[in-house]
Amino acid sequence: MKVAIACDHGGYKLKEFLLSKLKDSNYNFIDLGCNSNENVHYPYYSRRVTHYVLNEGYDFGILICGTGQGMSMCSNKNKNIRAALCTDATMATLARAHGDSNILCMGGRITNDKVALETTINFLETKFDG
Ligand code: RB5
Repeated sequence: MKVAIACDHGGYKLKEFLLSKLKDSNYNFIDLGCNSNENVHYPYYSRRVTHYVLNEGYDFGILICGTGQGMSMCSNKNKNIRAALCTDATMATLARAHGDSNILCMGGRITNDKVALETTINFLETKFDG
């Protein structure tokens, strides 16, 4: 499964945590930045992940900013993107099962590491109910 992931400075720490936990998994991640805590403009990273999902054959995207709000608002401007802001694993399961979401958004200042990891795994593993 191909997964494109990116963040802004508010989500950098959480992105690095998730990649460190999932690096030996079956998920094939492409890390589209950012690469430090330095301030960046989150729409740029939203657009990068959205592009990979829409045009480069990636199954899912993950976007992390401070709250997840900015990333989800930007990404959802695109046709065929269903970006879901999830604060826990149940929201992720239902975003996939009921909403066929293709981009998971999380807030690095909202969701702790353990919950974010569960949320990510549920999102990637749950099939759309149809
Ligand atoms: C950046 O400080 C913050 O605005 C951004 O990470 C995000 O929370 C926006 O929705």
